[in-house]
Amino acid sequence: MNYTFVAPCYFGTESTAAFEVRRLNAENVQVSDGRIRFEGPADLIARANLNLRCAERVLLLLASYKATTFDELFDGVYAIPWEELIPADGAFPVKGSSLSSKLSSVPACQSIVKKAIVKRLQKGHRVLTLPETGSQYQVRVALRKDLAEIYLDTSGDGLHKRGYRRNSNAAPLKETLAAAMADLGRVRRDSVVYDPFSGSGTLVIEAAQKALNIAPGLRRRFAAEKYAFVPAECWQRARAEALEAIRRDAAFEGVGTDIDPAAVALATNNARLAGVADRCRFAVADVRDFAPPSEAIVLTNPPYGERMGDLAGAAALEKTLGSCLKQHPVSGAYIITADAEFEHHFGRKANRRRKLYNGMIPCQVYMYY
Ligand SMILES: C[S@@+](CC[C@H](N)C(=O)[O-])C[C@H]1O[C@@H](n2cnc3c(N)ncnc32)[C@H](O)[C@@H]1O
Repeated sequence: MNYTFVAPCYFGTESTAAFEVRRLNAENVQVSDGRIRFEGPADLIARANLNLRCAERVLLLLASYKATTFDELFDGVYAIPWEELIPADGAFPVKGSSLSSKLSSVPACQSIVKKAIVKRLQKGHRVLTLPETGSQYQVRVALRKDLAEIYLDTSGDGLHKRGYRRNSNAAPLKETLAAAMADLGRVRRDSVVYDPFSGSGTLVIEAAQKALNIAPGLRRRFAAEKYAFVPAECWQRARAEALEAIRRDAAFEGVGTDIDPAAVALATNNARLAGVADRCRFAVADVRDFAPPSEAIVLTNPPYGERMGDLAGAAALEKTLGSCLKQHPVSGAYIITADAEFEHHFGRKANRRRKLYNGMIPCQVYMYY
């Protein structure tokens, strides 16, 4: 049986996320703003969750239909064979969202969806009560311009939670965005990656995992591991394949520096938890002493006023980074920032720019190569 999936991703990372999805041999891959839709068998649930670096989660799309009344919403949900997905003791909380739709009350939509699932499960399992004491099956209903989409979440925690970043510093970059940066910077197995504002180490660690082909989900669990309709062998096989695919012989080297000793300690520990401690080193240093080797790829996320420190200070740091890289030219520099004046402060126009969102903050990646 083939399932339809939707993997939401940050705006600006769609092409990277779609490339990763295609690499999993998914079928009918369709890309639209902030999401990748694709199809495949049950084992793709395991492989997508384990391997996708840029997607935020993996959702099973169960139905997609026009709904302008509660009756229409109910009927569409009731038509889904829930008894094949959720066992009689399964818990099924419903989360909703509504945008530009006649059915605008999210609590009302959630409650209609819940009622329809209850009715269908009572009939399908031939029971009167549903104790909801078993595994959790998170249902999502999204209304957009009167189109209702009904999903089952297979990820649980968002995929940016890799399991290696226990604590975080003041302004960490999302792991999924850091992975997209490593892709833009064309990090390969033998790359040398430097980050002079490394914070908790996310960019260097994500680059290392990509270079070594370490699946980002190997150190965590997923909601669908408890789903009765996803055979346990799918997970075992996907994990075994991912372990087999790790390139332990990759020559990758990652170096992160930061002025804050606490951040350096945190990054060092995160690299250990991520299984890349032998490829990454972190040290305390001021960006003004930044002198990367010519073969380096620089991936970095300098402090910016809105989240840390003040604007003038941020501009001065960008200027310093610009002059360091002028003195020490590198193979490529990829800088993500919300500072619209970045090129001016840095002192050079980028070869290319890419718009991205860091959470709700609009950013750009400035690419120099
Ligand atoms: C936006 S954060 C980087 C976050 C990082 N990408 C992460 O995911 O954790 C910017 C970092 O720049 C560091 N920083 C500030 N001034 C610096 C300086 N003069 N030299 C080096 N690092 C500096 C801060 O300590 C902070 O960790």
